[in-house]
Amino acid sequence: MTSQTPQSPSETQTPETQRPETQRPESHRPHIFVMGNEKGGSGKSTTSLHLSVSLLKRGYSVGCIDLDARQGTLSRTIENRIAYAKDSGLALEIPEHRRVYRSEAETKSQAEAEDRANLGQAVDELWALDCLVIDTPGSDNYLSRLGHTYADTLITPLNDSFLDLDLLARIDREGQKILSPSVYSQMVWEQRQRRAMAGGKPIDWIVMRNRLSHIDARNKREIGRLLDMLAKRIQFRLAPGFGERVIFRELFPKGLTLLDLREKGNGVALNMSHVSARQEVRALLKAIGLPDTGEAEASSKQAASGTQAASDSGEPAEPPLERVAAAE
Ligand SMILES: Nc1ncnc2c1ncn2[C@@H]1O[C@H](COP(=O)(O)OP(=O)(O)OP(=O)(O)O)[C@@H](O)[C@H]1O
Ligand SMILES: [Mg+2]
Repeated sequence: MTSQTPQSPSETQTPETQRPETQRPESHRPHIFVMGNEKGGSGKSTTSLHLSVSLLKRGYSVGCIDLDARQGTLSRTIENRIAYAKDSGLALEIPEHRRVYRSEAETKSQAEAEDRANLGQAVDELWALDCLVIDTPGSDNYLSRLGHTYADTLITPLNDSFLDLDLLARIDREGQKILSPSVYSQMVWEQRQRRAMAGGKPIDWIVMRNRLSHIDARNKREIGRLLDMLAKRIQFRLAPGFGERVIFRELFPKGLTLLDLREKGNGVALNMSHVSARQEVRALLKAIGLPDTGEAEASSKQAASGTQAASDSGEPAEPPLERVAAAE
């Protein structure tokens, strides 16, 4: 899939947000993470699942919303996770999940009204939870932009290639100068303005590099330099991402994450590469930061249930590397 340019000027407008707040008491507000990137295959669904499971393992209650319902990667993965838990007898954490299809109404205004109502209903149903994770498709459409209007934290996974940088901005051929922000960056900027005007908390936009190659160090450095430049100009934070690892593709169809590898009976032997990959997931979570409301709640839940002392990841610490190596 490639990035899509909106068809008409009206399509570039960020939709008005949400349903009346009366349905959602402000005394409780979930922290809403949105995975957004108009390029396909950058790791949005993979990151959605890893983030959701990480939050669940830390004691937060988590809801997921799949706005790429037709492709349904996240939805299928969660179904597979449920089936895998049942078959294996593993007590896997499962997020509350909703799948929101794009309206097929005939007129644009009807379709948009239906999209607003459907997404609004899914958010209402999950509002009592600590965190929501919204996965969006790899192309621009009204429902996806609507999803972005809910973001407290917007996470944009980016494949580590020059081609993917144009999601954020147009850069000159020599790779020295930023020529203009991309349509996607403008959409995020517009959304930030709206929130600021409505007195809301600013959106925390995090760009994470995904599928980092272990070999092409020069390329990696050069992309890093451009991203630093873009971060200042377009105002996002850069978070460490995941390396290119086969394990992601192996786990995904089972609905498993790297964080489940510790469970006995998951059929995957933990090796050194997996340990490094888990550390990458932890580093990402640390960079994202935990939502305030939930953190207190999560730690009190842990205290109440007498959960064992956890590392800063909220999970028991990794076994020493020698033991892992010996187990290979
Ligand atoms: N770090 C990684 N290393 C190896 N494979 C990865 C990595 N991250 C994601 N993948 C694989 O890349 C493919 C695309 O990932 P994913 O479905 O998460 O992307 P996406 O952004 O949600 O795609 P789309 O835009 O089509 O929804 C999947 O097969 C996934 O397992
Ligand atoms: Mg996806």
